[in-house]
Amino acid sequence: PFLDPTPQLPALFISIGFSIFALLATLYLIPALGPTFIKANLYGRDLLKTYHTPIPESQGLICASIYILLLMLFIPFAFSDTILGSISNNKNEGISIREFPHYQLAVYLSSILSLLIATTLGFLDDVFDIRWRHKLPIPIIASIPLLMVYFAERGNTTVVVPLPLRFLFGTLVNLGPLYYIYMSLLSTFATNSINILAGINGSEVSQALIIALSVIINDLLYLPWPIDFRLPLYLLGNKAELGFGGVWSAGMAYGSTELVSRHLFSLYFMLPLVGVCLGFLYHNWYPARAFPGDTLCYLTGMAFAVVGIQAHFSKTLLLFFIPQIFNFILSCPQLFGLVPCPRHRVPRFDPDANLLHPSKTLFLQPPSKISDFVLRILATFGLTELTTHPSNGTILESTNLTILNFLLLRLGPMNEKQLVKTLIFTQIVGSILAFFIRYCLAGLVYDG
Ligand code: UD1
Ligand code: MG
Repeated sequence: PFLDPTPQLPALFISIGFSIFALLATLYLIPALGPTFIKANLYGRDLLKTYHTPIPESQGLICASIYILLLMLFIPFAFSDTILGSISNNKNEGISIREFPHYQLAVYLSSILSLLIATTLGFLDDVFDIRWRHKLPIPIIASIPLLMVYFAERGNTTVVVPLPLRFLFGTLVNLGPLYYIYMSLLSTFATNSINILAGINGSEVSQALIIALSVIINDLLYLPWPIDFRLPLYLLGNKAELGFGGVWSAGMAYGSTELVSRHLFSLYFMLPLVGVCLGFLYHNWYPARAFPGDTLCYLTGMAFAVVGIQAHFSKTLLLFFIPQIFNFILSCPQLFGLVPCPRHRVPRFDPDANLLHPSKTLFLQPPSKISDFVLRILATFGLTELTTHPSNGTILESTNLTILNFLLLRLGPMNEKQLVKTLIFTQIVGSILAFFIRYCLAGLVYDG
């Protein structure tokens, strides 16, 4: 159903142009519209500063508007090949009529629909502070258009079993409906995991930026370059990768044309996202003049789920979320009520030394047996620090279970700028690890 990708390459240059425009528009509009947001009561106080200046909140709405409008404007360019073909066809009877690639249009429209729902949900969350149990299922429902398109294309639902487990399950396992459940959970995970790794200037948008850049690098590996720089990967013994049906795509030999088209689609969605994220980061960098709000977290998370599902690399995508997965697992005791979860889990600010320390959660009643057990295990691994009663040893306090507090606990107090740089560094190391697992380690676990 996909077009021959070679004529689509000019569209890639147009997409790069759109992304530069996205960057400039964001750079300009964030400060220009800030006062309007404050007037509409959309502002917050920077918790880790001494001043109380109102900072415009939900600025992700501006980013989302620029991003989604540009994606819509881009649709005719993505199909320019077909449009130009049919125009010249009317004049010249000799050229055969091409079928319009309806499937690819469905991919676009369903993606934009999901992004719109995510933006709405994020903005409503900013305005009304929606409860966890209410906001969790919404991205799952928002992913149904994506899953339907995946189904329409008879998307792959089989996974390759790692070598050591093959004697149990065989080489391939068809997960069927479970694979769809996994993909819908991916949308909820991507949106919420960025949101809960938040609270210091630049943290939300820098995560999104690094993940988007990682996806772009991964996409570039699949484009038809004049020189095959994928040779080193072949030499690493991973011949089944890159273009001839990936190991993880269960050896379904997709034509390389289709692979190129899918990764071009992913680039069309990721390049303008990098544009808005870069522009926003400039204003959100310490000391922040604008806050992303949940709107930006939901928008970026959904954009990742969209490309992961529509371009069929959801497992590779998940590898770029290693810090978020760590933060989510660490957060579980607080998210699921074993440990008290205050409204804000941001680090504690010491204004005198201008340093951040791990923040703590207070136990008003002694923890249950299971909470006690979980916390002591986490403390053994250095993931939290406990304050216990001097005589009977009951847990009185524990540090909040987030990656930010964990970094402060392990590396010592630092200022906000150092902490966000450390977080960015962690995210980059995570992505390098992801590429290593995907393209080098996979060859050892699965036979290429
Ligand atoms: C999530 C986190 C919460 C964290 C909050 C900070 C969980 C379950 N929830 O909640 O622990 O405190 O994000 O974003 O982990 N803010 C700053 N500096 C920043 C960014 C935000 O001080 O760089 C403050 C501002 O007061 C801003 C508020 O955080 O108004 C936004 O919080 P919000 O996004 O509504 O919090 P949640 O996403 O619900
Ligand atoms: Mg938030």
